[in-house]
Amino acid sequence: MSDAEHQRRISRRRLLAGGAAAAGGLVAAGLPADAATGTSQVVAEPFAGGATVPPAGQAGRSDGAAVEPFHGVRQAGIATPPQAHAVFVGLDLREGVGREALGRLMRLLTDDARRLTQGRGALADTEPELAALPARLTVTFGFGPGLFRAARVKGGPEQLPGFSVDRLEDRWSGGDLLLQICCDDPVTLAHAQRMIVKDTASFTEVRWVQRGFRQAVQRPGLTQRNLMGQLDGTVNPVPGTPEFERAVWIADGPLAGGTMLVLRRIRMLMDTWDAADRVAKEFTVGRRLDNGAPLTGRAEHDPADFARLNTLGFPVISEYAHIRRAHTQDPGLRMFRRVYNYDEGDTGLLFAAYQADVARQFTPVQRRLAKADLLNEWTTPIGSAVFYIPPGCQESGWMGQNLLT
Ligand code: HEM
Repeated sequence: MSDAEHQRRISRRRLLAGGAAAAGGLVAAGLPADAATGTSQVVAEPFAGGATVPPAGQAGRSDGAAVEPFHGVRQAGIATPPQAHAVFVGLDLREGVGREALGRLMRLLTDDARRLTQGRGALADTEPELAALPARLTVTFGFGPGLFRAARVKGGPEQLPGFSVDRLEDRWSGGDLLLQICCDDPVTLAHAQRMIVKDTASFTEVRWVQRGFRQAVQRPGLTQRNLMGQLDGTVNPVPGTPEFERAVWIADGPLAGGTMLVLRRIRMLMDTWDAADRVAKEFTVGRRLDNGAPLTGRAEHDPADFARLNTLGFPVISEYAHIRRAHTQDPGLRMFRRVYNYDEGDTGLLFAAYQADVARQFTPVQRRLAKADLLNEWTTPIGSAVFYIPPGCQESGWMGQNLLT
């Protein structure tokens, strides 16, 4: 029996411990019996309506001229409202590249990013016209564990422990230096990527490139849908709030002012997901598909009532529902999810989560999910990387200066 099958059988057994009778649709979807009883309560709830589709005419993309500030205490691209397109590029340092060379590289890349994000061509840009519409372009740099070793700097990000659900492939994992480039226009983005990657060539080799997209609609308060059709990002620290500050930014020590990114490439098994019915899909996450409300509530932002039982005495939001397993009580200890979809032959999520402390914020949640999350039936992590995102810089400075000088 494969590990995956073993894990599935164990979690099935746990799930069945509820001892309730099975119902046709859920069993067909591969869900356990208590799923059936939990959901029948939910189906009986009055329809909450409140579709999240924006009214016609309000679905605006950013103006191509819109510019995100480059200088500041934080790097852009994290608290920035997510742009429609993203590319994450993982680079490996070439042999012999140490702290001094990294300093030169980061000065060069900072200059490229400073220009491109403000709508100007990079130095020696052969097609500066392609930079003219910045469309909220941001370039965010990250340092992996290998870069800390090469620069002989202590305290870098640690590799994640292995999780039982992982089926990680080298071609989507690891990396010494990260470029995270986000933009509302894919042409501007591709140009910025090419200009910047070109300048890294004598210092690094490209290890992987991961492209993602979100719904191009930008409206405050509108949660995006992922490719499973779910509203994704409802319970998330809100930029500008004290909770976000506490959850995301490292407060003290040599890494202060930065954050840690966990990037996971998670494949969605769409064929079997398509075979599941709506009731099963909603039970799996613990939220409705139409408006994202928790199964115990009516509107998207109603707090989930994890204690509520149905008439048979089972939790309305299953013990194994994704939102229960992923929930962290203390808002200052949540991770900030800024995810992108991918669809390149296979389909899934570029799960990007930012936090001050990976071991306290991401790891315990991923452990709980790996142990028993109904969503595991339809999702498989195939890539994984961790990066320290250094603080931002001022006009005279460069990214990573805090560590590399
Ligand atoms: C393809 C994989 C995944 C999908 C499709 C997915 C989908 C969702 C959805 C639909 C929600 C409910 C709406 C919301 O609050 O955003 C949610 C919540 C959440 N997810 Fe995931 N998720 C995935 C993987 C992960 C992973 C790997 C983690 C972390 C290790 C995670 C952490 C969370 C957290 C913290 C919440 C909020 C829980 C709460 O407090 O209510 N998710 N996810």
